Amino acid sequence: MGSRSARARHVEVDGLHPDLAVIDQVAASLRAGSLVAFPTETVYGLGAAIDRPDALARIFEVKGRPATDPLIVHVADLESLVGVVAEIPAGVVDLADAFWPGPLTVVLPRGRLVGDAVTASGPTVGVRVPAHPVAERLLRAVGVGIAAPSANRFGHVSPTTAAHVLDDLGSRLGSADVVLDGGATPLGIESTVVDLSGARPAVLRHGGVPIEDLVAVLGEVDGTERRVAPEGTATAAPGGLLRHYAPDTPLVLVEGDLGLASRLLDALHERRVRPRVLDLPAAAERAATVLYSAMREIDAADVDLILAVALEPKGLGRGVNDRLFRAAHGRVVIDDSDVTVERLVAQVSGRDARARPR
Ligand code: TXA
Ligand code: MG
Repeated sequence: MGSRSARARHVEVDGLHPDLAVIDQVAASLRAGSLVAFPTETVYGLGAAIDRPDALARIFEVKGRPATDPLIVHVADLESLVGVVAEIPAGVVDLADAFWPGPLTVVLPRGRLVGDAVTASGPTVGVRVPAHPVAERLLRAVGVGIAAPSANRFGHVSPTTAAHVLDDLGSRLGSADVVLDGGATPLGIESTVVDLSGARPAVLRHGGVPIEDLVAVLGEVDGTERRVAPEGTATAAPGGLLRHYAPDTPLVLVEGDLGLASRLLDALHERRVRPRVLDLPAAAERAATVLYSAMREIDAADVDLILAVALEPKGLGRGVNDRLFRAAHGRVVIDDSDVTVERLVAQVSGRDARARPR
């Protein structure tokens, strides 16, 4: 598995019952300042110990991530937040009871254990307790928080397997770094990010905890509608950038049924475009699990336009739609009129004209 150019150590463990001796060795690597990619229930993270500024700086280098984009700190349990955040408000205890361990990141004023290298010099820090046996054992063995963004090239499709990590980052990691392979991640999309540092709770990113569930615990929450930050502007969470989670092949989001998608396929074929529908299960949980693998697969196929059909906008479906919308750079199609089809054809030929050497 993995690319030949990969230089990081690829270490396999059982995803449910990881060998603790192996976990201890990997924890020692983290403490010594190496980077470790590891599975969580959402996606693979690229981790560094929060007390190793040298390693934290390398996360940004390896990912090609802007220095302005803060990292999430992963901890083993609520108690381990002491010093990571300035204080633990009652609202966080309620959220922890309801969702931790699990796919919820909470943004709070940062504590003394968290430096500028983690927060991008900001006053707050995002924290979460992941629900994955490998992540949990690793956190306990390291004994300090692990800062980890998703283990992909910045802006690219997130990784749900160790092979995805090696494909994206293998050649950029060093021989002391580790890719800890605990199998495919079960949930498949990133955590929901909620900001509790302001006057009112605000959702910064839709994800593994559905908004409906969050509202049930917090009451009112801002930012539950789809929001995008215009390209090139500073933003609270780059997960809110319009272009994010994107495959290399152009993708459009079809807001309609499969009938619309198949009429578009026919119309595009007639105009010599090679489109394909991104094949996702209708059930949102299943769709989330396979979303990023399906995107990577279709991206590698001989296709010049990907049609992704939006899911029903409720529960995890919102998190999936949000990622499709951003992968589409906000290009949404709602009909198969001639104008729509011509616009799609122009998009594909525009790309070809740029890609073709003259
Ligand atoms: O499920 C996940 O959250 C995965 C796994 C590895 O835990 N991590 C992840 O990290 O998706 P990343 O860095 O790819 O996305 C974190 C998002 C970014 O959009 C970042 O800007 C935002 O959370 N974020 C992190 N800390 C923040 C803070 N202090 N204030 C505002 N946004 C923050
Ligand atoms: Mg990411």
